[in-house]
Amino acid sequence: MHILVLNGPNLNMLGIREPEHYGTQTLADLVQMIETEAAALGITVECFQSNHEGVLVDRIQEAYGKADGILINPAAYTHTSVALLDAVKAVQIPTVEVHISDPDTRDEFRKISYIRQACIATVKGKGFEGYLEGLNILVHHLRQK
Ligand code: DQA
Repeated sequence: MHILVLNGPNLNMLGIREPEHYGTQTLADLVQMIETEAAALGITVECFQSNHEGVLVDRIQEAYGKADGILINPAAYTHTSVALLDAVKAVQIPTVEVHISDPDTRDEFRKISYIRQACIATVKGKGFEGYLEGLNILVHHLRQK
């Protein structure tokens, strides 16, 4: 089983960026946590971060026929991107949405998630642990199929 893990804009700034929302650990720490969990689950993961919407769309399209599941934190594109929603719908790969903070309890404009309607689950407000929970949700979903 192979899972693509996508992180959107500004998540390369984890550790520096708004620690009150995102903590003090870095993207490298996050990737290490995800890779450790993947090994324990007996699956492979590829972690990728981009600040560019089209690049994320490309990665979702490239996953067609290759990845069994997608775990995505679209970051700010959560609240703006019909393109990411359409990409997930196009490839029909089971996808879980994850957020470090809980966007639904923050600014009004963060309450909209375009991608959510194409996702099998959303994990939010659980810090980096949320990625591990999201990975487990995907793996259990895929193993049931
Ligand atoms: C985020 C929440 C978004 O509202 C924000 O734009 C991000 C990160 C999170 O992980 O909590 O960049 O997706």
